[in-house]
Amino acid sequence: MTDDPYIPADRPTLPADGEIHVWRIDNAPDEDIRRLARMVSRELLAACLSCATDELRLSHGPHGKPRLAMPGAPPLAWNLSHGPDVAVVALSTTEVGIDIENRNRQVDALRLARRYFHEHEIAWLAECDGDDRRLAFLRLWTRKEALLKCLGHGLAYGLGRFSCIPAHDDNAVILEDGNRRPVTLYLHDPAPVTGAIISLATPIESPRLRHYLWHT
Ligand SMILES: CC(C)(COP(=O)(O)OP(=O)(O)OC[C@H]1O[C@@H](n2cnc3c(N)ncnc32)[C@H](O)[C@@H]1OP(=O)(O)O)[C@@H](O)C(=O)NCCC(=O)NCCS
Repeated sequence: MTDDPYIPADRPTLPADGEIHVWRIDNAPDEDIRRLARMVSRELLAACLSCATDELRLSHGPHGKPRLAMPGAPPLAWNLSHGPDVAVVALSTTEVGIDIENRNRQVDALRLARRYFHEHEIAWLAECDGDDRRLAFLRLWTRKEALLKCLGHGLAYGLGRFSCIPAHDDNAVILEDGNRRPVTLYLHDPAPVTGAIISLATPIESPRLRHYLWHT
């Protein structure tokens, strides 16, 4: 009996509407996590689409976000993120962004926040003490990356253009798409991953998250 919320699964399936599948990939010793995460993503996509990995056709958005280029295929979007020992892949029928950071990463939180973050976030971090501030910074960082990866812009969008302080009653953040139209995205916390901080962003307000463990 295990209390790991990420359930080992052999047969990936296409996420239903409103569902997001979060796969955790534990790194094998000496494995290149970046290569492994890419390979697993392709296997997951192929299984969801019932095709072989060499039949997958991918393209990239203007800022490098990979996407399917298979006319007639069911709607399927994904995003991956890797830390040193673990990677996560999120799959959904709508756009999705995910980010994972090493929880033990040492950062000069206030200095970085003052340089890159929104003024409300700087003020919020300034009120935190000691290690709480470092963890709050990392939490904000993963939330920002998840949002910008969902949008497909990456960090070049500008981390200071929006605030995403965790709030009990509101997980919505309004950003702008490439045509400067407002886009509402929602932040969610996937099940915890030991030693990591993880955030997920999606246009779905209340998705059903399913957590799976990839067997390497
Ligand atoms: C995307 C980005 C936020 C990734 O940050 P990171 O913390 O280093 O890496 P992560 O492990 O979290 O995510 C990497 C994955 O995100 C995906 N990705 C790449 N570009 C992306 C984008 N613009 N939006 C969303 N996801 C993206 C890829 O699958 C990538 O995997 P890969 O490294 O195997 O190719 C960062 O690299 C970035 O800002 N890229 C945009 C660069 C850009 O604007 N280029 C414009 C010129 S084309």
